Amino acid sequence: MGPHDDANFTAHWAAHDLGEVVVAAKDVKARVLELGQAITRDYAKNPPLLVCVLKGAVNFMADLMRAIELPVEIDFMAVSSYGAATKTSGVVRIVKDLDVDLAGRDVLIVEDVVDSGLTLNYLRQYLGARSPRSLEVCALLLKEGEQRVEQDLKYVGFSIPSTFVVGYGLDVNERYRNLDAIYTFTGQA
Ligand code: IMP
Ligand code: MG
Repeated sequence: MGPHDDANFTAHWAAHDLGEVVVAAKDVKARVLELGQAITRDYAKNPPLLVCVLKGAVNFMADLMRAIELPVEIDFMAVSSYGAATKTSGVVRIVKDLDVDLAGRDVLIVEDVVDSGLTLNYLRQYLGARSPRSLEVCALLLKEGEQRVEQDLKYVGFSIPSTFVVGYGLDVNERYRNLDAIYTFTGQA
């Protein structure tokens, strides 16, 4: 067991801005494996195209795709809805589009966190217009009680209270993405 497997371990360089552990590293790992197994079962006949939403989902994507025992393909897109602040603006901007054609594909959007749901709502419409055969969502985190748009999420890692969190891909001002656990953020945004 390394230091990152200890639920009480907090990286020294980040500790002064982090509050409690929301999801411990070992729980993230275990849940991502379960999600990978579920996707392996559900998509056995039609391996999906995994679409990672940069940058927050990058850690999740890297672990999830290795937990799926199918010949998946991957692609990336980048959207911006937050700017540098910790409150949603409701405005979604495509920063990087996909490289591959979605027509006839079974597309699985890999998202870090669904907060208001505005980002995902936009993405669904945007990608849905490209004639995928199916379009589903795998979100690592779902913030309880925050959704402004009805969400139909095929896979959810964890439901968490509605506080701002960092780690495992999630950032504030581009920092803390490289932590293995997920923490509340108590510093200045
Ligand atoms: P939504 O459009 O309000 O659902 O926000 C979704 C996007 O906002 C996510 O893909 C994240 O990039 C970002 N986000 C939402 N909540 C958090 C958080 O607690 N920490 C870091 N980023 C967040
Ligand atoms: Mg972000």
